[in-house]
Amino acid sequence: MSYNSIYDIVGFNNEVNRLETQAKLGWKKEFRTLKWLGLKDGMRILDVGSGTGAYTELLLENLPHSSVTALEVDKKLFDISKDRLSDYEGNRLNLKFGSIKNSGLKENSYDFVVCRFVFQHLENPMDATREIYKLLKPGGIVAIIDSDRGMYGVSDPDMLFKSGRGFISQIEKRAGWNREIGRKLLKMLKYTGFEQLDFEAVTVHSDLVGIKNILGDNKVPPEIIKMVSRSNPRLAKIMRICSDSSQREKCTIIFLNLIAKGEKPIN
Ligand SMILES: C[S@@+](CC[C@H](N)C(=O)[O-])C[C@H]1O[C@@H](n2cnc3c(N)ncnc32)[C@H](O)[C@@H]1O
Repeated sequence: MSYNSIYDIVGFNNEVNRLETQAKLGWKKEFRTLKWLGLKDGMRILDVGSGTGAYTELLLENLPHSSVTALEVDKKLFDISKDRLSDYEGNRLNLKFGSIKNSGLKENSYDFVVCRFVFQHLENPMDATREIYKLLKPGGIVAIIDSDRGMYGVSDPDMLFKSGRGFISQIEKRAGWNREIGRKLLKMLKYTGFEQLDFEAVTVHSDLVGIKNILGDNKVPPEIIKMVSRSNPRLAKIMRICSDSSQREKCTIIFLNLIAKGEKPIN
């Protein structure tokens, strides 16, 4: 099973919207943490699994002296990123269609690799850490951003997330995602040969980013509520509550985005 089996479950456009939102919500705090972990303007950056290019665009906008290579394996998402980033292409941006399993990119050529919410979709994630190791210059840094079901987040009311977890675990099973990846990341970096390891978590809090930016401006699409109501009527009820703007302003959601960092040794 690959990442894009999600399209059959939630629909391509819904997934694209989710990726757009997810990139923007995490950005401010992730960027702060990535800089803390060694990201600097002027570096040569590789964005692995760049999706729609939303995060790549934020990197380009906020690091005006950096060049970015964006690697993406899904043709539909790659084409979206190509459209959105056309002003940068050939200048500070190299868009590369391909897989991190065997990227075809030049070895020893990047200062910083960011790989965001990709590892949970990889069948053999150690292949990816080995490829990233090869692509980094000696002294280069990798930051893998992902999540883990054991520390995914909390909500108020509690049932909002508890029921959501049921829905997410159905998706996980059907799409074959590995949502216990967060706890494994640092050891994978260690076994690959990375040093100067570090591990951070950033929060996405609805009181700071706005509940509507997490749940969306629009109501949950009725077809999704209908689909969910068959297997999880409780969740469907919550989705209806979330679609009511006065009700949802009373809700709180906090997510944790985990960041595993390693450096390729100089010798
Ligand atoms: C959840 S999306 C995250 C997109 C983007 N990194 C972001 O944070 O907005 C996961 C992305 O990883 C890509 N992906 C999955 N396996 C990949 C692989 N082997 N090589 C490159 N990209 C891959 C998917 O096609 C998808 O675009």
